[in-house]
Order: sequence, then C-alpha cells, then structure tokens
Amino acid sequence: MEDTTLRVSKIRNGTVIDHITSGHALDVVKILGVSGKSGGIVTIAMNVPSKRLGKKDIVKIEGRELKAEEVDRIALIAPNATINIIREYKVVEKNRVKLPKVIRDIVKCANPACISNSNEPVEPMFYVENEEPLSLRCHYCGRLMEREDVLKQF
Ligand code: CTP
Ligand code: ZN
Repeated sequence: MEDTTLRVSKIRNGTVIDHITSGHALDVVKILGVSGKSGGIVTIAMNVPSKRLGKKDIVKIEGRELKAEEVDRIALIAPNATINIIREYKVVEKNRVKLPKVIRDIVKCANPACISNSNEPVEPMFYVENEEPLSLRCHYCGRLMEREDVLKQF
C-alpha cells in the first residue's frame, strides 16, 4: 500500500516551537524575525491534528536556540506553546511558555499620551486580563491592548 503520509523531518540542532494556537505560526515567525536568509532549515506546519488543542501549528528552526526575551514574546501570541531545544536530534529541553500576570518591558503602551511613553523614567507595566484572546491593561492609563496592538510592535 502506498504511504500517503508526508512526515515533516526532524531537525538536528535548533528549536521546535510546538502547540502554537492554530493560525498563529506566521506571527511566531514574525516575532522571531525569521526570514530564512540565514540558510538554516525553517519548517512551518499549520493546522496539524493535536490531542491537546484539536489543531495546532508548529515552527521548527534549525540552528537557532531562542533567548528568554523571545520566549516571553511568544507567550503573548501563543500561550499554549511548548519550546523544545534540540541537540543532535534529541529533545534536551522542553518548556511550556508562561504568560506572567504582570508584564513589564516587552510591550509599550499604545496610548501616546500615556506617562510610560513620556520622557519620565516610567517603565511600561500591564496586567494580563485575558490570555486568549489576549487582553492587556496598562497600569498607568488603563488602555486595553489586544494581540494586534502587540504584534505591531514586534
Ligand atoms: N522534533 C524535531 N526534531 C527532533 C526532535 C523532535 O523536529 N530531532 C519535534 C517533534 O516532531 C515534536 C517536537 O519536536 O513536534 C517535540 O518532540 P517530542 O518531545 O519527541 O514529541 P512529543 O512527545 O509529542 O511532545 P509533547 O509531549 O510536547 O507533545
Ligand atoms: Zn498606558
């Protein structure tokens, strides 16, 4: 019988971002600034069947391990994601991303008049009111920020 399954290759060294909310793979690619120009294999799979999520997206990046700040950004866009670090084909680390209740420094307030956007030394700060769909409330001006507002900044 002919095998009708096309399996996506494993990677040798790099990062697999798994369990991304379906439809959000390209946002993850954008957040990470992956252009494909560095030459490593980049695999993007969308709407793959998943036990946990029903459907999920996956992004595999050969030759790159993510920085903590990049992982924090992914948590904003894909709060169920798992970050797998691969070395010599083995998963050596697996971490579920985690969105903290309070977010500092990775996002700016969308309100230009907010004190956190002035010349005052005030660090941005948001409360996570809802993870999915994303809703962040500015501590200073109360402005609500959604995923589109956040994506524009990355
Ligand atoms: N993976 C890969 N290349 C490797 C090893 C793993 O691309 N050399 C991918 C797998 O295809 C999978 C993810 O990394 O999408 C995590 O691998 P693994 O932990 O083996 O899979 P699961 O047990 O299914 O993961 P989970 O329990 O997180 O669902
Ligand atoms: Zn504000």
